[in-house]
Amino acid sequence: MKDDLHTLVLALEQDDSLLQPAKLRERIRAMDRLEDVLIQAPGERPVEPSLRARMEALHARLADAQRELSLAIREAIRRGDGAQALHAWMHPSHQLQDPQGYDHLDALVSEVLSFDEPTAEIADLDADMVFYQPTPARHIFDLIGRAAITDADVLVDLGSGLGHVPLLVSICTGAQGIGIEREPVYVDGARRSARALKLDRVTFIAQDAREADFSRGTVFYLYTPFSGTILRNVLDQLKQQATSRPIRLATLGPCTPMVAAEPWLEAVGPQALDRITLFRPAQRQASDRQGGLAGCGT
Ligand SMILES: C[S@@+](CC[C@H](N)C(=O)[O-])C[C@H]1O[C@@H](n2cnc3c(N)ncnc32)[C@H](O)[C@@H]1O
Repeated sequence: MKDDLHTLVLALEQDDSLLQPAKLRERIRAMDRLEDVLIQAPGERPVEPSLRARMEALHARLADAQRELSLAIREAIRRGDGAQALHAWMHPSHQLQDPQGYDHLDALVSEVLSFDEPTAEIADLDADMVFYQPTPARHIFDLIGRAAITDADVLVDLGSGLGHVPLLVSICTGAQGIGIEREPVYVDGARRSARALKLDRVTFIAQDAREADFSRGTVFYLYTPFSGTILRNVLDQLKQQATSRPIRLATLGPCTPMVAAEPWLEAVGPQALDRITLFRPAQRQASDRQGGLAGCGT
């Protein structure tokens, strides 16, 4: 065991490729392995001091390389070149290998978006409301690609938390992003992140989703923010929006089957709880809309 740790530390010390920006996945994995040992559970046998010092130095070196990459991407976003800077990480080889949990992309994205730790108290949730958990970054990149979001779109994240989805979508596509979130502490954090990155096409509104104005949205995103009567209310409002213009919906998590059961919607592509599922108004609904509009013009 002790020898295994020596061998691991020596191998990591000798592997300078871990400092290259493109070795994000390997660098984060190496840092995680070091942290697993450095952050010791009570009762665990301490690592011998000289080996511990080497591990700390190695971790600091990797963290510096990581910080340098994040700072370069932040600078690019401020210049309006964020899509280019993040392009390498949007490649499918970085995505969806394991649909569960967070990975190296989330480590990068949280450094790039650089949210402050919320200091104020978070209000209790009412019935049917789901606690905050960010969408893993690889699903956001998957959403951008599969929904073919462009700078002509307005993405509305219903229950946006700290704003990962509107922020990343706007950075990567130039789309407008609107985050609707009932918890003002998260909204403040999201706004601070947007301001620091000079993202002027992203807006965060502290509001209950049932009260929100949906009239500007073209893509609506739900990472299971609520269920029951709140979801029913919001879906009814979206159905109303779909009678006058084309909209797309994207879901992740347990709300997907309830959205899939809506007769006015049809899924586009695969449906799964642990993947982004895309929906559009069912073809009959869309042709009713066209008929209605044509009728108005005659
Ligand atoms: C699972 S998190 C999703 C966060 C974000 N959409 C993302 O994917 O990164 C659900 C969020 O919805 C918010 N929420 C729950 N009920 C809400 C409501 N009625 N109106 C607005 N936000 C709500 C919660 O405060 C929480 O931040």
